[in-house]
Parts: sequence; structure tokens; C-alpha cells
Amino acid sequence: MIERILKTTLTLLLMLAVIQTYSCKKAAATAAEEPKPALAGSHAIIPLPQSVAYAEEVFVLDNEVKIVADGQYATAVNLLNKDLSQLAGISLIVSASASGKAIVLKEDPGLSPASYEIAINKDKISITGRNKESVFHGIQTLRQYLWTASQDKAGRKITLKAVVIKDKPSYEWRVFNLDVARNFYTKDYVKKLIDWMALYKLNRLHLHLTDDQGWRIPIPKYPGLITEGSSRPFNEYDLENIERAKSNPIYTIDNRFVSTSNGQKVYKAAYTRADLEEIVAYAASNYVEVIPEVDMPGHMYAAIKAYPWLSSVNAAGWGKEFSWPICPCKPDVMQFAYDVLDELMAIFPSKYIHIGNDEVDKTTWESSPECAQYMRSNNLSNVGQIQKLLITNLQNYLQSKGRKAMVWDDATEVGVNPDVPVTYWRDWITPNRALANGNRFIMTPWTWFYLSSTPSDEAISTLYNFSPAQRFGNLFDDRIDGYQACVFTENIPSEAAFEYYVYPRLQAFAELVWANNRREMNSFVQRLKTHLKTMDKEGVRYKVPGFTK
Ligand code: ACM
Repeated sequence: MIERILKTTLTLLLMLAVIQTYSCKKAAATAAEEPKPALAGSHAIIPLPQSVAYAEEVFVLDNEVKIVADGQYATAVNLLNKDLSQLAGISLIVSASASGKAIVLKEDPGLSPASYEIAINKDKISITGRNKESVFHGIQTLRQYLWTASQDKAGRKITLKAVVIKDKPSYEWRVFNLDVARNFYTKDYVKKLIDWMALYKLNRLHLHLTDDQGWRIPIPKYPGLITEGSSRPFNEYDLENIERAKSNPIYTIDNRFVSTSNGQKVYKAAYTRADLEEIVAYAASNYVEVIPEVDMPGHMYAAIKAYPWLSSVNAAGWGKEFSWPICPCKPDVMQFAYDVLDELMAIFPSKYIHIGNDEVDKTTWESSPECAQYMRSNNLSNVGQIQKLLITNLQNYLQSKGRKAMVWDDATEVGVNPDVPVTYWRDWITPNRALANGNRFIMTPWTWFYLSSTPSDEAISTLYNFSPAQRFGNLFDDRIDGYQACVFTENIPSEAAFEYYVYPRLQAFAELVWANNRREMNSFVQRLKTHLKTMDKEGVRYKVPGFTK
């Protein structure tokens, strides 16, 4: 609660700062901005491509058209056929060659990294990508181009305006972060989220698998993490959600995860290893990489509840704001951490594993004789250095297995090595040490990028218009690898609530991270209207933005 009040106050202060810096925004824009593509209403593509140039002729897409592909594009072809079937009863076959009209998919390593081009004339739609992933992105663009084409359901044909679209992303890291610990989302629902991420060319899913309120991934050597750690008696957020649900049913807690034990309501949920492997494989087929996070050493209440020896005081509990952490000064606890990383690496093939390190209350380390001894043996002068050594040890362990660690920016206060990417969320604290160190950043400054904040038109436009210069001057220049939209789910207890909070901020986020300097709010709002119709058809329960009415 204190944390929330602090955050609310900081948000108000930051909002004031944002309003003040709006007037400088134009001046801060660089002369090197990319040229704006055709924005006018002939297409509704989000994120906005780099360039869109129309020609006079048209391509008539009907059942005679063949798909000619130089590789395996099964996921993309299936998506395209699903859309064509819904829009106009069309289903295309893949063929080695075609004498007549065709959609031609091919790779061209000569294209610039991550780019694709779509060329439509009266005979052909060609989608050429630097690699398979870029061809996939081209198909996602074509899917959206169909939405504004002339659809003739009775005649089973779609007439597309001839066009050349050239496109590439502004940032490599286009991340969506989902907290499945506070409230849980099934494997099938995560796959549905991946569908939307792929449509908008987001390419990394940061899965926050564990937290104080629940442990969701089985680790074979520690079965208690599931038997004990995956359940909780209803907590203050659950009770708050029950209150909210009285006036708004989206806050009704998903009853698939609720049971009664000894007369008390309990929330319990977890994935199996097979579930997680299915998510990873599905994500990979949609060019989304899943980056797992087990948040250590803080945010471990659920694990410590199952195994009290994990903490310095052999008990789960809370400090002033945050829960007591696990104790890296005990060899068995370090072994636990390595065992957890082993299982993460066995399930998730991602190069990066997120090891958390946010919000660590170190007071239990201060009073621990084991930590005092550990500090003497390792020449450490304060408990911050215990956390720093933990990060180095975990980083080295991952590195020895060919993987890399990443952390939340809180870790940079105790010091992290320069090659660890930092997920920067605390926009009220400048990460001076990491900036001086040369670390690279995934930006998710809380005020703008936490989609778990109250959804509103203002939240959409504030996110859409974010630029680092607006808030941070040139501090982060050339140090940003990408952006991350975060959904922490304390007050998002159902799929309906998730959709109400996330959409269409996800579309605004996607345009920011893919199209960056090409953004233009008026054009986005126009294009978004078509996307709202698609979400209507798909039954997505988004918060209707006032500015699209
Ligand atoms: C965070 O929101 N504690 C990363």
C-alpha cells in the first residue's frame, strides 16, 4: 500500500514534468527523422510502415491464386488462409510454382536487417523479407491490408489496390511483459495473446512466472513450490477485486483458479512443464521469443512459504514495503537458485533469462549471522554487495551454459556488469551507475508503459507520444535496445479485465516501438478504428477509446 501511495504521488509529479516538457518536444525531434509514409486513409496498417506507395492497377484475389513459397511459412500461410476464408470464403493452396496469379513469398538476404517489402501489381503479390521472420512480418501487414480492401463475399474475391510497401522496425526489442503470478492466465490464453503480439510485430514475451503471490512453474527438485507456492488464501488485492466486481464484472476473479479450503477461499494455479513448452513452441512459430523471469532474491514470499529455509530468518514475511528475500549467503539457497535456472534453461531456449532483482528488502541479511560470515569470507562491506555478488554468480552460471542474464533497474544500484541488459521501469530514479557503466536498456518507464495503470484515452496518447528526450533529455541516447509494455496483474483478475486494460494500448505501444519517428497520433486514431472492428469480430473486450467515436 505504501508502495502504491508513493507511486501515485510520483506519478502526479511526473505527469507535471511531462506537461512541462511537452512544449520542448518539437525542438527535441531530430533532423534525421525518417520521411513520413503515405498516411491518408487508404490503409489501416498498425504499426505504420516505413513507406506506402500506391499504383493505379488492382490485384483480384480469388481461389485461382496460388501461394508460391521458397521455404516453410506454415503459420503465416494458415493465418492468411483463415482471414481469406472469413473475409470472402477464399482458401489458397501452396504450390511450387504458378503460371497464373500468385502470392510469392521469398527471402532476400540483400535486404537490410529485419526489413521486408510487399509489392502488389495486377498479376502478383510479392512478399520479400530479409529472412523468414521478416517474410512473416510482411504477411502480418498483408493481413491488415486486406481489412481495407474491397471484399466481395458472394463473388469470393477481394480486390486490392496495387502498392509497394517497404518496412523495417525501429527497435529490435519489442517486448510484452505478462505477470502470471498475481493472477494467472492459461496456456491457451497466453497463446491468444501471442496471436495479437504477432499481428503487431511484437517479438518478445517476458513471462513473470513467480512472485510473492504465487509460483507458477514446476521445478522438479522442489515440488513444494507448486503444492504450497502456487496457492494463496485470498489477499488484499483479491478482496479489492471482489469489491470492484460488485459494480464492474470484469473484476470477478477467474473461478477456474478459486477453491475453498478449511472454509477459506484459496487462489491456486500453475503451468505444467508441457504447458510451458507448448507456449514456447507456439510463440516460436509466431516469431515471438519467450524470456522467462523468476524474480530473485526478493518477491519470493511464495517460495519461502513452501521452503522457509530459503530465507535468512527461516520464515516468510514482510519488511516495510517488500517481502523478505531468499538468502544468497547459504550454499543450499544458491543451489536452489541454480536448480531453478537449470529448469528455466531446459524449458526456455531464449538467450536471455530474466533474474529479476527488483525491490529487495535486505534487512534480514543485515541481522543474519550467516550473512555476516559470508561478508567476511567474501570481503564484502555491506549487504548491497551480497546482492551484487548474487547477480554476478547467477550471471556467470548462465554464461557457463551459453545464456545471459537480464535484470530490473533496481539491480543497478548495487552494481551490475556492463553486459547485462537492464529493464528500466523506475522512471523516478535515474540509473546513473548503469549509464556510467555502459549498460544497454529495455525501456519500460512505469508512468507510460505499465498497461496495468487505469485505461483511458490519456493513457493511450501519453504512451503513444512517449519519447525518451521528453522525460530524460539525452541521457539514454543510443543506449536503448527497445521498449516493453508491462502488465502486472494485481487488479487484473480475469481475461475480460486483461483485455480492458491492454487493448488498444497494445496497438499504440506497437506503433511506438516499431515505427518510432513515423508516429502521428491523428493518423493512428484513424487507422485504429479498423482494428477496433477486427477486435469486435474476434470478441476482444477492449476499452473503447473516446477519440475513435
Ligand atoms: C516492477 O514493477 N516491480 C518491476
